[in-house]
Amino acid sequence: MSVKKLTKDIANSASGTSGLPNGVYIDKDYFSWESKNLLASNWFGIGFGIDVPQSGSIKKVDVLGTSLIMVRGENETIRVFYNVCRHRGRQLVDRECDQAKLIRCPYHAWTYRLDGSLNGTPHIGGAGIHKADDFDPTQYKLFEVPCKIWMDIVFVNLNANAESFDSFIDPLEARLLPLWGESGPNQYRPAADGLMSMEVKSNWKLAVENYLEAYHLPIIHPGLNSYSPLSKHYLFHDAENFAGQGVTSYNPQYNNDIVLTSASSWSQQVKLTAEYPAIYPNILFGIQHDHAFTMLLLPVAENRTLERVQLQFVGDASTDNALAGTRKEILEAWRSVFQEDVGAVEGMQAGRHCDVFDGGVFTPTLEHATKHFHRWYERKVTAMLN
Ligand code: FES
Ligand SMILES: [Fe+2]
Repeated sequence: MSVKKLTKDIANSASGTSGLPNGVYIDKDYFSWESKNLLASNWFGIGFGIDVPQSGSIKKVDVLGTSLIMVRGENETIRVFYNVCRHRGRQLVDRECDQAKLIRCPYHAWTYRLDGSLNGTPHIGGAGIHKADDFDPTQYKLFEVPCKIWMDIVFVNLNANAESFDSFIDPLEARLLPLWGESGPNQYRPAADGLMSMEVKSNWKLAVENYLEAYHLPIIHPGLNSYSPLSKHYLFHDAENFAGQGVTSYNPQYNNDIVLTSASSWSQQVKLTAEYPAIYPNILFGIQHDHAFTMLLLPVAENRTLERVQLQFVGDASTDNALAGTRKEILEAWRSVFQEDVGAVEGMQAGRHCDVFDGGVFTPTLEHATKHFHRWYERKVTAMLN
């Protein structure tokens, strides 16, 4: 199926009641088009700040049909560059590193500073001569990508044509204000031992769609449903760039009895509230009074997605060793919930190969947020075509 035909089908279904056509989940060419156009034109999470923990840390991220490097330079600044040398285009970084002073190309040993500026060009003027009159090194910085950090998520906008980051994230912060208060994201600390990842054999969009409904809770997550039941869930879907679900009876019982600090404004009553927005396109976010999590969806292929999860807790004391058991318990609890979802999304992916499936149908009450994601997606595709 051609990309052109698929994009037309999506645009035509904008006002329809069914889901997206099968091809947007299973077509290789469409996946490539979607990565380089639609996803690259939005703020897109590629990693966590904690992936580059100190000055000199470099992490390579292959995503959206290209290779990027995240670099933490001086003053804690994180920058993102295309992973390519300005000389003959060799890929610069093959593996991550934590103590780089410079980034050195493995081919002819040109070196770049951590801010991307060109530092050294050995023998450029002939053997033993490292400068050349007609070569201006200031013209050959690494190609930098606009990036922003929010809740330790490193967002990039590859095509540099997305809306401003503030207008992207402000509506979500406003929604969460009654929960986490004025201090908002500032009070959270990423947990170095709060990371996990899993690869699912599914298109990234099915992971978003699954996250946006609690309809499957009693069947797929009986354990979670016991303390966060379907009957206590609600949906929100009136913003532009996110939708989600929340619950009003969040009250898990931990075996570890060390109590975690709650975010500043979380009242006793509000503590039972937890919200789970999907921040389009690829962030699944969860916020409870005592911790938050982010799941990054990194599309690997039309039928493969790397899911990376990071936990965050409240305040500097939350990183203390004494809380390691509690952090682990929470991480493991989420691991089993997210693993329960794998069969669901992989099963939907397999179902997309059935030619008679036409996008399906949504329940009239429980899947408005999923439909909201489809409408967002349809708008983005339509904008690409104009
Ligand atoms: S390609 Fe990098 S130094 Fe030549
Ligand atoms: Fe689920």
